[in-house]
Amino acid sequence: MTNKTLGIIGGTGWLGKAIAESLLDLEFIRPSDLLISNRSGSADVAPGVRVLSDNQSLVDSSDIVVLSVRPEQFRALQIDARGKTLVSLMAGISASTLSAATGARVVVRAMPNAAVEIRQSYTPWFVAGSLTDEERDWLQRLFECVGTADEVPDEDCIDYLSALSGTGPAFPALLCAALASQAEAAGIPARIAQRAARAVVVGGGQLLATREPKALLDALMAYRGVTAAALQSMTGQNLEDIVGRAVQAGAQVARRGL
Ligand SMILES: NC(=O)c1ccc[n+]([C@@H]2O[C@H](COP(=O)([O-])OP(=O)(O)OC[C@H]3O[C@@H](n4cnc5c(N)ncnc54)[C@H](OP(=O)(O)O)[C@@H]3O)[C@@H](O)[C@H]2O)c1
Repeated sequence: MTNKTLGIIGGTGWLGKAIAESLLDLEFIRPSDLLISNRSGSADVAPGVRVLSDNQSLVDSSDIVVLSVRPEQFRALQIDARGKTLVSLMAGISASTLSAATGARVVVRAMPNAAVEIRQSYTPWFVAGSLTDEERDWLQRLFECVGTADEVPDEDCIDYLSALSGTGPAFPALLCAALASQAEAAGIPARIAQRAARAVVVGGGQLLATREPKALLDALMAYRGVTAAALQSMTGQNLEDIVGRAVQAGAQVARRGL
């Protein structure tokens, strides 16, 4: 349990709410040390958590401020965070922009994903400024309340990873939809096609929690049968290039800014 006061601007949104709930459930923070804000100042929260509509009051009462509004909502905030540590979850807004706009002492950019909902996010984070080891450890433990996390060495990692892991379920959902629709096109009944595709992506994906992807692929290819034929067809079409271009396209948007 921490003694730091944490304010989450946008603490009722998709990410902000899931993070707030996990921090409380896991007793990382006391309700009385958590503040959240949104535009209405009302929300269904745990007893003891303060809900505000005045973002500056939240900043003034917090040691650490998490910004969990959408990038396009950031300019309207107009907060003065001088002397504070500001943790931005926003894609496409650089540490220098955040620092110039808020005056924060230290800016941390972190990029969780929608799997915060089930505490399975991967959250890379980058510190622009100087933090003590104790403060770094605190942040790492905070992000670990919603999954796994790593501090990354430079800000470009955040922009690139915004498109890789910040996208969360997007790539598996795309694969799942493609497998299902192609199965339907091949004459498999729709319900069966959808259940089969989802089982592959969800169930098969869970195996990767304990198995090395490359070793798993090698083992499956070694049968020289159905799986090998299917995978060779994909790799023959330069799947790696397609994936690389897709992630770079997203990263370019993150680097350019939103
Ligand atoms: N969702 C994802 O999968 C994902 C993944 C990676 C990164 N991110 C980043 O995380 C951030 C939040 O995304 P999200 O999906 O959680 O968005 P969201 O669900 O739309 O939540 C935005 C929150 O901001 C609040 N808000 C908006 N304007 C405000 C203002 N002026 N003052 C105070 N609160 C305000 C909203 O509440 P009211 O409307 O009630 O004011 C809401 O609670 C984004 O910047 C996004 O780039 C999201």
